[in-house]
Amino acid sequence: MSKSAQIRACYERNFPQTEEGIKQFYDEWASTYVKDMAEEGYPAPRRAAETMAKLLTNKDAEIMDMACGTGLVAHELTKLGFKNIDGVDISTESLKFSKERGIYRRLICSRIGTNKLDIQDDSYDGLVLCGALGSGHLNLECLPQLIRIVKPGGPIILDVDSESKDTVDTFKDGKFEADLEALVRKGLWVKEGYEFVPDWMFNEPGHQYAYKVV
Ligand SMILES: C[S@@+](CC[C@H](N)C(=O)[O-])C[C@H]1O[C@@H](n2cnc3c(N)ncnc32)[C@H](O)[C@@H]1O
Repeated sequence: MSKSAQIRACYERNFPQTEEGIKQFYDEWASTYVKDMAEEGYPAPRRAAETMAKLLTNKDAEIMDMACGTGLVAHELTKLGFKNIDGVDISTESLKFSKERGIYRRLICSRIGTNKLDIQDDSYDGLVLCGALGSGHLNLECLPQLIRIVKPGGPIILDVDSESKDTVDTFKDGKFEADLEALVRKGLWVKEGYEFVPDWMFNEPGHQYAYKVV
């Protein structure tokens, strides 16, 4: 069976380099994203949700699924008992599939970067950013904006595939960890955990990090 153009782009880490381009890429992929990812193997959303459940035991917790796409992370969070989940993504078409799941309270269509999101400070008990850091996607400049909307003590779970961490200009040569660490030094969050994930996506490795907002 031939793979979709988007799956081939993922294998090659060959993504559009503009926000308009990445929005169009995911808009065009939205209707087959869930099926395509399941066929290739994508356990990262389940792992992110499991880590969240370890750090947040209150199932009434309010959780932000940042770059939620078609809603795979929220699907896993609800399986673990969470019910108050909001999402943000740039892809309007992906958000339609998230909405159809009927599990999000609020879905916001927005770019995620250094722009101020239409969300109050300290709104969430926890935040997940799964599968969204990399070439053409989000970079770490968005982190202060994510930290801003999470309550003190709340966990932030984020992940990145090894290939991207080692090759993307703004991540490679230790810059990824240095940027995370810089926010520790600024007193914005503390490191809570790290896991090397051998089969993060498509049986290729990745890294999962957990921080707690100060
Ligand atoms: C690989 S998908 C991951 C979606 C979901 N978190 C998951 O694990 O299935 C990456 C998502 O990031 C979104 N995205 C990429 N760049 C973005 C940006 N600058 N602002 C907002 N969303 C962005 C895409 O629209 C897409 O839904």
